[in-house]
Amino acid sequence: MTLPQVIALGGSLLRPEESQNRKTWFGKLRQLAIHIEGNSRKLGIVVGGGLPAREGIEVAKDFTSNPDKLDEVGIAATRLNATIIQQILLDIGCNVAPSIPQDTESAAEYFDRYNIVVMGGTNPGHTTDAVAVSLARDCRARDCVIATNVSHVYDKDPKTSDDATPFFEMTMNELIGITGTERLPPGESAVVDPIAVAIAAKHRINIAVLDGRDIDLVESALDGKEFHGTLVRS
Ligand code: UTP
Repeated sequence: MTLPQVIALGGSLLRPEESQNRKTWFGKLRQLAIHIEGNSRKLGIVVGGGLPAREGIEVAKDFTSNPDKLDEVGIAATRLNATIIQQILLDIGCNVAPSIPQDTESAAEYFDRYNIVVMGGTNPGHTTDAVAVSLARDCRARDCVIATNVSHVYDKDPKTSDDATPFFEMTMNELIGITGTERLPPGESAVVDPIAVAIAAKHRINIAVLDGRDIDLVESALDGKEFHGTLVRS
């Protein structure tokens, strides 16, 4: 049996500014799912919380500063977004797990019965990047694709530094040098969650970072072809 493949889909990808872009993006995601199933492959999709996570966490901050409680709000948003993707794929008849697993061990077991498993967050203390890498570990996959809204890992933040240089390939230790391995505060983003990087380093999982606004890039990476993005070797 071929091992399942795993992607993390950043929550921001679900809500582009133009609604037409959203329809096109969902359509391409459906085509990708059909392509995967048509090739008798299996896919785990771990969906981020995006805007609802950040909004919910901001509201809850009026009442608590406990990071675990704020993380729970974020997790609820990731499961909302996961349900949207799950329903969009069920709607076209894909063999998708009918419930959203709450942990990566149960998600990995679902692949005995389903071709596609969609999930969001699990526990406080990390983001869905870490969930995706953990799911890859539990499925014995060697790679994990992190589809986000930047094209590459850069040596510095490209939003604030004009001279930021992209990496096309790097080692996991080089990535650790950029992200560190400390827990992020609730609702805060990094190019890759430091906890995900630490899990990937420990279990020797390679990470492909790419711009998920272009589903063709996701497909190339999953097909093992050269892709535009950063390959982080563990
Ligand atoms: P995300 O995975 O969406 O964070 O989780 P992100 O990296 O900002 O991803 P994008 O923007 O969607 O691409 C949102 C928040 O939910 C909580 C954390 O507070 C995180 O910041 N969370 C998520 C958890 O605590 N545990 C999880 O397993 C997942």
